[in-house]
Amino acid sequence: MFQHVDAYAGDPILSLNEAFQKDPRAGKINLSIGIYFDNDGRIPMLPSVRAAELAVVEAAGPRPYLPMEGAANFRSAVQALLFGPEHVALKAGRIATIQGVGSSGGLKVGADFLKRYFPDSKVYLSDPTWDNHRAVFEGSGHSCETYPYYDAATGGVRFEALLAHFKALPARSVVLMHACCHNPTGVDLSQDQWRALVPVIRERGLLPFLDLAYQGYGDGIEEDAFAPRLLADEGLSFLIANSFSKSMSLYGERCGALSVVCPDADQAARVLGQLKFMIRRNYSNPPMHGGQIVAKVLTDPKLRAMWEAEVAEMRGRIQEMRRQLHDVLAAKLPGRDFGYFLTQRGMFSYTGLTPEQAERLKTEFGVYILRSGRMCVAGLNTRNVEATAEAMAAVLAA
Ligand code: LMR
Repeated sequence: MFQHVDAYAGDPILSLNEAFQKDPRAGKINLSIGIYFDNDGRIPMLPSVRAAELAVVEAAGPRPYLPMEGAANFRSAVQALLFGPEHVALKAGRIATIQGVGSSGGLKVGADFLKRYFPDSKVYLSDPTWDNHRAVFEGSGHSCETYPYYDAATGGVRFEALLAHFKALPARSVVLMHACCHNPTGVDLSQDQWRALVPVIRERGLLPFLDLAYQGYGDGIEEDAFAPRLLADEGLSFLIANSFSKSMSLYGERCGALSVVCPDADQAARVLGQLKFMIRRNYSNPPMHGGQIVAKVLTDPKLRAMWEAEVAEMRGRIQEMRRQLHDVLAAKLPGRDFGYFLTQRGMFSYTGLTPEQAERLKTEFGVYILRSGRMCVAGLNTRNVEATAEAMAAVLAA
């Protein structure tokens, strides 16, 4: 019956993470998947999240299905987090938000929605982008192309080329953009660059789709929401998928959302209705537990303050690991510039290592980074950073 089914080639991130789990070597180092590990190499259970979960379990009653769009308290907490509680777009009821299944689920619901209502629009992805972006959009029937983004020569953004590219796009083109902590490069647009994009987006009639999976890991929870707030302030229409996997260390609970900022409340109501339809025919409605934990953390002032401090601590630890990795590498290979480790933001660094060098890191040293050269800096700790730097120096010097 299933003889014709192809073998799955695997996923560049998840399959590498699986290979790491099976590696019997004691000193192996996992810098493959985008997960924050603490200095003891464990996925943290944040005290704010733990306290929220206990409160949610304590208060738990019957478990009816959630509405297709998810829990109302979760959705309004997400809107306040993304745009600020007093934002005019929020007050005007012109943001349609659904509870997603992680931000991947939000991307998928958004991709299905766009395919139905913008069937002729192409989706433009940054070059490079998260490996799964193309898969999600192509899976919904979109045709995807790329726009210039990372400049390997300078370690920055090819902003002039990006701007020129956007200026030549057809109206209603979808531009998928990372709101902060670009995955995989760690190289973000500056606030001035975002501002410079606004008139281009407006004049060309482009439709931005922001992905905000790492809020709080860049410059801060509020600071990392700069892009969605700017676009909303400017009255632009756009979509944004966001996640609590990393910011609340709730990976397996699949907590996230999709918000569509619309010109008015009437359009937002119609968009929300169609998002519900997309959800109903896909997974019907989202799970309850994780979303209630998130809503509790975001809306309880004491837990919220705890969470903000915890996110700041995780962000600070990553920055410290960046610094230590930089310092060891700079000492070992003095002719090379490793300054990019210090300027990049979020969990990832684009190391510039070739696929062959990444393979050597894995096979000879048990250090797992993606073949693209992406390293999850959040997997470093005070016990493995030196070994990682030594392994990198060895493959770079060869
Ligand atoms: C990553 O980029 O490693 C994470 O977002 C996890 C994933 O699902 O790919």
